[in-house]
Amino acid sequence: MFCQTNKELEALVEEARSYTQYGKVADYIPALGKANPTDLSISINYPDGRCVSAGDVQKKFTLQSISKVISLAFVLMDRGSSEVFEHVGMEPTGDPFNSIAKLEKMIPAKPLNPMINAGALVVTHMIKGNSVEDRFKRLLSFIQELANDATISYSEGIAQSEFETADLNRALCYFLKQHNRLDGSVDDLIKLYTKQCAVEMNCLDLAHIGLVFAMNGFDPQTNKQIIPQNVARICKNFMVTCGMYNASGEFAMKIGIPAKSGVAGGIMGATPGRFGIGIFGPSLDEKGNSIAGIQLLEMLSKKYSLSMF
Ligand code: DON
Repeated sequence: MFCQTNKELEALVEEARSYTQYGKVADYIPALGKANPTDLSISINYPDGRCVSAGDVQKKFTLQSISKVISLAFVLMDRGSSEVFEHVGMEPTGDPFNSIAKLEKMIPAKPLNPMINAGALVVTHMIKGNSVEDRFKRLLSFIQELANDATISYSEGIAQSEFETADLNRALCYFLKQHNRLDGSVDDLIKLYTKQCAVEMNCLDLAHIGLVFAMNGFDPQTNKQIIPQNVARICKNFMVTCGMYNASGEFAMKIGIPAKSGVAGGIMGATPGRFGIGIFGPSLDEKGNSIAGIQLLEMLSKKYSLSMF
């Protein structure tokens, strides 16, 4: 896709880039540790097909937790909201994304929301299909449709690196399995989940997906209603209340748009009715969000009154 660079945006990216020094690249998934901490790029996609960008927007990164909002939309479309919310809740936790703490307090065990790892694993478990390969293929073609890019694939190296080190996520699964929230092979679920997290794209694609959410599930460039309005609404709700984990409250206060982050450094923003935002900046703050990406969004929100509140 052609995207125009923009001088004003470039100046903001340079200013925000200085914050990368205060963060750290994620390395609990060893393959993510190879990222360049000073990278920072942004793309903003508008409904009329215009796109403005700054930084190296061709650079690819893995979705990680951003995939959670996409798998949620997919599973809601596959199974409907009553079935999905029987197994996962709707409340923010105020805990880190991989925490097991609140699971033990819920009887019967039910993850509080689909954006924390426990909830996302339950959602991924609900993806329909005959095998891990089949289920992943279905999810991947949905992601390709959302991004309007059929070349999107996943990083085998990063999926494998996470698979080998995902013991905390395995622990969450075994806990949920013991409490009848999951069934079947935990390793198959981790295989599917780590592939989902390792889906790779650039900021341009991510901004396009953000645009589809911003337009209530409609892609104005292909004229297709990809996600039903009600499903897009549910997803944006979760993006506001839990999209940035235990930093969601501060994010809503300072920036005020539905957004979802991932530990590879991506942030997808959906400014309702206006545009989609894709950001990549792998240096993370202590809560696992792109440190410079958040600064950049804060500057943009102030300058262009992005807050929906
Ligand atoms: O489950 C994990 O640990 C990763 N695949 C995704 C975590 C993540 O992106 C959290 N985000 N900030």
